Amino acid sequence: LASTEVDISKIAPGQAIKTSWRKQPVFVRNLTPKEIQDAKAVSLGELRDPQSLADRTKPGKENWLITLGVCTHLGCVPLGVGDGENRGDYGGYFCPCHGSHYDTAARIRKGPAPTNLVVPEYNFTSDTVVTIG
Ligand code: FES
Repeated sequence: LASTEVDISKIAPGQAIKTSWRKQPVFVRNLTPKEIQDAKAVSLGELRDPQSLADRTKPGKENWLITLGVCTHLGCVPLGVGDGENRGDYGGYFCPCHGSHYDTAARIRKGPAPTNLVVPEYNFTSDTVVTIG
């Protein structure tokens, strides 16, 4: 099956890029220590789709948040990649179609989306390359 290699060496903490895999947008975000803390501070009981940051990242690489850029409501591409873009009320991603807010682990926190942004299969091929798929 087709996989996508992504060079992550230029993604600074706090930044994200948009790439694609199987014609779907994929977000690759390098979380800051504060964003990691914010994600860990949420108790799972508060979440509509309860998953910890550890459930959504790889051991030792919890700063790398890799998700499909497809809102789980009706499939719009959320905002939040690039400087100055709207990251919503919880600092992650914001879907402007009907107002879904995702947090710094890309978990749904407010709005109509039923589930978190999907984490695709991926692996770190090296410290600077991620293979998605
Ligand atoms: Fe994202 Fe509806 S498609 S909120």
